[in-house]
Amino acid sequence: MKKLLNISDLDKKDFFSIFDNADCLLKDISQKPLTNISIGLIFEKYSTRTRLSFQVGILKLGGNIIDIKFEDLNIQRNETFEDTFKILALYLDGLVFRTNDHKKLINAQNYFNKPIINGLSDISHPCQIIADIYTLKNIFNDFENLNICWFGDMNNVLFSYFELLQIFPKIKLNVFTDKKIFTENINNFPKVQNINYYFELDKNIIHEADCIMTDVYTSMNDNENKEKEFLLKKFQVNSEILNLTSDKCVFMHCLPANIGSEVTEDVINSKKSIVLKQAENRMASQNGILQWLFS
Ligand code: CP
Ligand code: NVA
Repeated sequence: MKKLLNISDLDKKDFFSIFDNADCLLKDISQKPLTNISIGLIFEKYSTRTRLSFQVGILKLGGNIIDIKFEDLNIQRNETFEDTFKILALYLDGLVFRTNDHKKLINAQNYFNKPIINGLSDISHPCQIIADIYTLKNIFNDFENLNICWFGDMNNVLFSYFELLQIFPKIKLNVFTDKKIFTENINNFPKVQNINYYFELDKNIIHEADCIMTDVYTSMNDNENKEKEFLLKKFQVNSEILNLTSDKCVFMHCLPANIGSEVTEDVINSKKSIVLKQAENRMASQNGILQWLFS
C-alpha cells in the first residue's frame, strides 16, 4: 500500500509519476480520479496552505473531504488511538494528517490500513518539498542538477530536503546555519553525502545557487528560543545576500514567513521571490500525489 509519511516513501519513478499527474490534471481538470473517494483531514496544528490546497484539490478531483477534529471524537472519552484509527479506516479511503508528533503518524498507519499523507509533522514536510521541486522543475526545466542554498534553522522542511537528496544525489544542497544549531540537530537528520555546511556566509557559493531558501526560526512545534534567533541572525535572507546571487537565482520560502526575522520584506517582495508560485503549486503537486496514491 502506498503512503506519504516521508519523502523516503518515494522513489525516482514515483516523483516522475506525481509530476506527470500534476501536469496532466492542470491541463485537463475534467478528469475525476477521486470519484467515490472520501478523504479525512486531521489538522492538530494551524494551516492555511496545506489544509485549503488539499480541500479544494480533493473536491476538484471529484473526491469528498471529511474534516475530523479529535475534540469531537470519542478519543476524548478514552476510546483508544488504535480503535479510533481502525474505525476511521472503515469509512474513509485515506487521510491527510498534520501532527505535532511524527510518532502519531506512524502509529496511525499501523491501524489505518489505507493511505496516509503527512500534512507536516515535527520531523518532516514531504508535500512542501514536492511542491518546491515541482516549482523549480517548471522554472529550470530540470531539477536533478539544482544547486540550492538553505539559510537558517535545521527543521522539518530541511529534513525532507535531506531525504530528497538521498533519491536525487546530483542535487547540491548548501546549508548555511550556526555551528551550535548544526551540532544539536545533525544526528536527527539522515546521513547524506552531498550536503555542504557553512557556518559563515560564502559569496562564491551563494553566487552559484539556482535557488536560495529559508524558513522560520521557530517552527510551530518549537518553543520560542531567543538564543536561536540571535545565533541565526547572520543568516537572515536580506538584500545583502540577494545581491550576491546570480540573475537566474530565485528566492523561496514555504510560508508563513516571519518578516524581519529569517527574511526581510524587500526580499520576499523582490522580483526573484517565487513564494506565491510555490504556494500556488501546493495544489497542483498534491493533486499529483493524490492521483498517484489512489489510482
Ligand atoms: N507551507 C505550509 O505548509 O503552510 P501552512 O502551514 O499554511 O499549511
Ligand atoms: N518549519 C515550519 C514550516 C511551516 C509550513 C513549521 O513547522 O512551522
